[in-house]
Order: sequence, then C-alpha cells, then structure tokens
Amino acid sequence: MNTIPTQHTRVLSGMRPTGRLHLGHYHGVLSNWVKLQHEYPCFFFVADWHALTTHYENPTVIPQNTWDMVIDWLASGVNPGEATIFIQSRVPEHAELHLLLSMITPLGWLERVPTYKDQQEKLKEKDLSTYGFLGYPLLQSADILIYRAGQVPVGEDQVTHVELTREVARRFNHIYGREPDFEEKAEEAIKKMGKKAARLYQGYRRAYQEQGDEEALSAARALLESQQNIGVADRDRLFGYIEGGGKVILPEPQPLLTKSAKMPGLDGQKMSKSYGNTISLAANPEQVTQQIRTMPTDPARVRRTDPGDPDKCPVWRFHEIYSDERQCHWVREGCQSAGIGCLECKQPVIDAVLTELKPMQERAASYAAQPDVVRNIINEGCEKARETARETMDEVRHAISLNV
Ligand code: TRP
Ligand code: SF4
Repeated sequence: MNTIPTQHTRVLSGMRPTGRLHLGHYHGVLSNWVKLQHEYPCFFFVADWHALTTHYENPTVIPQNTWDMVIDWLASGVNPGEATIFIQSRVPEHAELHLLLSMITPLGWLERVPTYKDQQEKLKEKDLSTYGFLGYPLLQSADILIYRAGQVPVGEDQVTHVELTREVARRFNHIYGREPDFEEKAEEAIKKMGKKAARLYQGYRRAYQEQGDEEALSAARALLESQQNIGVADRDRLFGYIEGGGKVILPEPQPLLTKSAKMPGLDGQKMSKSYGNTISLAANPEQVTQQIRTMPTDPARVRRTDPGDPDKCPVWRFHEIYSDERQCHWVREGCQSAGIGCLECKQPVIDAVLTELKPMQERAASYAAQPDVVRNIINEGCEKARETARETMDEVRHAISLNV
C-alpha cells in the first residue's frame, strides 16, 4: 500500500501567478526546476492564494496570469511527464492544513518573520494589516508540509519561511505525534519489515542513538523509504523512533538554495519586472535585438576609441552567463584595448539569447495552440497533488483526533 515516493527527497516549490515570465525567472528558478525534475519527484504549483494575500483587491487578473505562467513553465522545459504541475486553490486541503497549523502557531513566530514588516514597508500603498497577510508564511508551511517535501527550492528571501515551516512541523509532531503506546507500536512495526530489514534498522538506530552517527540516520531513513511491507503510519513511527521521539507526521523540510547565477537586468541591476529591465521569454527577435543593442555600457566608453572596463558594464554580466572562456577573453581584451566596439561586443549576446529563446518560444506556441492539452496537464497535476495531500490530511486529522 505504501506507494508514496521517497518522501524525504520530494521537492516542492511554488510561484505566485505573475503572468508572462522573463529570463530572470528562467535562469534564477526554472532552469533549476528542470534539472531537479530529473532527480526527484517534483511538485510545482501556482500559488494563487498567495497572490491574494497582497492583491486581494484585484483578483480578476489571476486566471490569465496563472495560464500564462504555466505555459511559460512548460515552455522552459518543465515536463508534466516528470513533474506534477498544479494550482494551489484546486487543492483545498492546503487551506485545511493551514487552519489546523494556525491553532498551534504562536503569533510571535509570524510577527517575527522578516518579510512581514519588510513587505508592509515596501508595499505602503496597500493595506497589508490583514489576517491573511500575517498568516501567509504559515500558508506556505502548509503548502510544503502537505506534500511532506524534503527539499524546497527558494530564493534567499524565502529561507526564513522554510525555517518557520521546520519549527511548525517540529511543534506539530511534538504535540500530536505522541501516542501513549508509541514504543510498542514502533517495535511491532519493526517486525513487519521482515528479519533482515529489521536487523538493519535496529543497527542504524543504535548507531545513531549511541554515537550520533548521521550516516546511520540517513541509512535508516533510506531503508524505511524503500520498505513495501509497512503502512504510512508505521513508517512515520519508525522515522521518529530512530531519534527516539514520537511519530513524525510532518517531516521537516530543507531549503534548497539555487547556485545558478543571478541574471542581471538590461541595466545591470537584478532582472525584475519592477525595474523595467527584463527580457521576456516571449520577446520576439526584433525586440531582443533592440533591447540588447540599446543596453547601457561602461559610461567611460564615450567614443569607439576610448578603452572600457567590462566590470563597469552590464553587457559583460551577460557574457558571464552566455559566453565560453574564449569569448569572454575576446570581450575583456577587446574592451580594455578599444579593439572592439560595443555593438560588436553585444552581437554574440544577442545571438545567444535568441538561440536560448527559440526552442522555448516554439514550445510555448505549440502549447498555446492546444489549450485542451494544457488544461489536461493542469487537471491531472491537480488530481495527483490532491491524492498526496489527502493522504497527509487523513493522518493529520487522525493525529488531532478529528476523524470519527
Ligand atoms: N511565497 C513564495 C513567493 O512569494 C511562493 C510560495 C508559496 C512558495 N508557497 C510556497 C515557494 C511553497 C516554495 C514553497 O515566492
Ligand atoms: Fe561593455 Fe563590451 Fe562595450 Fe566593453 S566593449 S563597454 S564590455 S559592451
């Protein structure tokens, strides 16, 4: 019955529905998702309820933004055959878990999340003194915990939310994971694994408890994940039993920081819609060419004969992303000696961006021409996500004595 994929390596991430995406999203997030989908069971979702926490006055744009964003995910190479793509509001179990977690989350934990005050400052024109806005990191915790995700790819600004999630999970397990007969149940569960696995498990458990052997801890977890003979509840008990505590109903996730280079914008600042310095994934070749040709360069290079400094030029930052070593050398040398002109320097960047965008735009066009296919992908993803979410909720309700 235990068909859940390896729960401690499950990857989950979400994005607010912002509409069409740009190269910053691709290099910062999506290319990483595409890589992760080959390595782990991945769940990627549109955080439409999260959009409401800050844009509750303007919800009518959400459906179109959701649609456009999903198409851009698919265009970027997120593969519905590998990853589960879904929409948060189509899995209402997130809301139920959020509600239940809210019962045990101290207000101070939410008030201390740095994004709470920061965002209120930043979005001064909006009234964000709402209950939903204060609670949105907890909604994010529910998003993560309901899939028992082990890894959560996020930007640095979101790491504190994953940390909050860990604390909430720990508190939940502490309060609800304690069964009066926990030890007996765990011992019985060990027997169900069969002699060989049971002996291995006991050995790892001892090594961890007596010597704090972290490798034994990982080995024990991997062993449990591979067990076919035990049910979900027993597995959770045995996860907790390695460390001595109670049942691990909601495992603690880890943030997964992307190592990928930060995509600079056309002006050298971080690429972001609010700075107006983006190259859209949907930009046509003329737009791309025009945008890059008019990029600012080292201000000291007034005339073609003036030498320049690549470190003071946003175009160089693009070369760092797109050019090989030989070409980077050509740029640095040519710039510093005034051997090349700026337009000449920009041409390989234009070519590289066009080459990168072309297959994406072909995929986007093909999906946009088949809305039924996209709808099906979303429907299937939502159904699959919901199944997993339901399993967790059954256990959560059971742990809180809510199932009659
Ligand atoms: N809060 C995230 C953002 O604003 C989006 C998000 C919602 C998310 N739920 C999540 C990201 C769960 C990772 C995991 O970008
Ligand atoms: Fe920038 Fe290239 Fe011009 Fe140097 S030559 S200033 S790196 S665009």
